[in-house]
Amino acid sequence: MRKPLVVGNWKMNGSVAFVEKLLAGVIGGMSNQQVDIAVCPTYVQLAQAAAICANSAIAVGGQDCSHVQSGAYTGEVAASMLRDQGCQWVILGHSERRQYHGELSALIGAKLSAVIEAGLRPILCVGETREQRESGDAQTVVAEQLEGSLQGQANLGELVVAYEPVWAIGTGLTASPEQAQEMHAFLRGCLEKLTEVDAGTTRLLYGGSVKGANAAELFSQPDIDGALVGGAALDAEEFLAIINAADSA
Ligand code: PGA
Repeated sequence: MRKPLVVGNWKMNGSVAFVEKLLAGVIGGMSNQQVDIAVCPTYVQLAQAAAICANSAIAVGGQDCSHVQSGAYTGEVAASMLRDQGCQWVILGHSERRQYHGELSALIGAKLSAVIEAGLRPILCVGETREQRESGDAQTVVAEQLEGSLQGQANLGELVVAYEPVWAIGTGLTASPEQAQEMHAFLRGCLEKLTEVDAGTTRLLYGGSVKGANAAELFSQPDIDGALVGGAALDAEEFLAIINAADSA
């Protein structure tokens, strides 16, 4: 009942030639998989990626956006501009935004409102650090992140939540399928309590060193509805392997 969703977060990687080659490889390897697919390039690669993906099953998304719709905000990009460039999705609250740009839940919540106002679909990231997990605070941390950004939101649109344990991002360490499932079930319960969204139909993605080799095991868990993929999304074969694992789940 929840269609799998696989999203590639390219982070700050690529070039014109790289984007062309990567997307040609992914599109060329697709075969009508029953999976929603998106790629999130940097802002400057969006128009190129959107043009290449226009007649494919791949949607395009932003990695972040401003919390306001226009004005004197040097260096920022508004959600409406992402939509203008052909985006359907926006990643919000990624741990790298929290860590390197000091983003806190209230700002992420304002961005979420801007995204929904612009008619885009948010992918809200939450996740604990290694220290927080080791001290037994993982659930408290993700619940606070969720609540801090969703509080007071009248409309959540087609919200997607991505659980990305910080200790598993780009490290090669993946949460075990059981650890990920436990947190996803917990998050679904939080959504049920905190929001008006139908938690049973809300898609929850896992992220953190997902690759072709571990995707099927993660997707076999009942509350894991897809993945937010970093490094492996930069390799057409790996990304296709993850899409295929989601299709067979
Ligand atoms: P990774 O990144 O797949 O390279 O661990 C995931 C993410 O940060 O979204």
